[in-house]
Amino acid sequence: MLLTACAPNAITESGNKVHSLYTIVLVMAAVVFVAVEGAIVYNAVRYRRRKGDDALPEQFHGNTKIEIVWTLIPSLIILALFVMSMVVLADVNREHTNDPLTVRVTGFQWQWRFEYFTGPPDHLKPEGVTVEAEGQTKPPTLVVPVGEQIHFELESADVNHSFYVPAWLFKRDLIPGLHNTFDTTIESRYADQRFHGQCAELCGDYHNEMTFEVATMTPQEFDAWIQQEAKKQAQGPQCAPQGTQLKIDAVPSIKFDTDCLAAPANQPVTIDFTNKDNPGIPHNVDIYTKDPAQGGTHLAGAKDVNDVVTAPGQTTYQVDGLDPGNYYFHCDVHPQMNGVFVVK
Ligand code: CUA
Repeated sequence: MLLTACAPNAITESGNKVHSLYTIVLVMAAVVFVAVEGAIVYNAVRYRRRKGDDALPEQFHGNTKIEIVWTLIPSLIILALFVMSMVVLADVNREHTNDPLTVRVTGFQWQWRFEYFTGPPDHLKPEGVTVEAEGQTKPPTLVVPVGEQIHFELESADVNHSFYVPAWLFKRDLIPGLHNTFDTTIESRYADQRFHGQCAELCGDYHNEMTFEVATMTPQEFDAWIQQEAKKQAQGPQCAPQGTQLKIDAVPSIKFDTDCLAAPANQPVTIDFTNKDNPGIPHNVDIYTKDPAQGGTHLAGAKDVNDVVTAPGQTTYQVDGLDPGNYYFHCDVHPQMNGVFVVK
């Protein structure tokens, strides 16, 4: 009874149905518990052995009527619970086909990426908006409108993760090679609030860092946000070359202090890399044409995953002149530490 008080209020329509079902089950279980325990205690006290009770009372076996009743009542309760559960389950799993907003959630060790799409599920049109952890120091924010059906696609880039928003009373796994989906609608009265989300599947050393925030907006605010965000992201990375001596630090825990490095085109530059992460943790800075997970090739920086600097430590990478373009850097040991390498 105490633990049930920990269940948060659901802010989604299906979450509310789950919550109601839960309450119904709890009340039914409480009634059965009180009735059964009450009868046991009453009978134990009322018919206890007293002084002078030396003879066994009359014994009898079998009573068809009572047996039918005590089989029938639980069967009816179970049947009712089964039907109610199936109705709620069908509702939680219902997906609408009226081309809702689609958010593709990608989980990877150990962060989240949220990409926005419109259009029918088999012809998704990107909105040009991707949300990731901000500068690797703040968990990403999943921005969603209230009062609208939202379709979610759940993808894992490596191991099993689980998308969990307690206030939705909902959790679904991200499994490599499997395409999990669900739809949800947040009730309109929960606009302009923030909720906590997290990975709910132990997925490795930094599972605990796989958190995110859910920020709710009215549909008008959301449309404005997505337009502004798409415009901003279309402009590309917002850092510009400031000379030929670049600087980047690794900081606790498992993060870079920046996600944007910039160098002037066709000039050799140096990258001073200081590993200020917790002692013993290895990192490096490796520059690629693009994310090697998407086919990028090594350009400069660290040689490979064995060429690392263990904290506390420092190194300087020499980078030959590069043609203008937007490249990619990451730590070979922790590819979730990454950023854009701008050359112009
Ligand atoms: Cu991802 Cu735990």
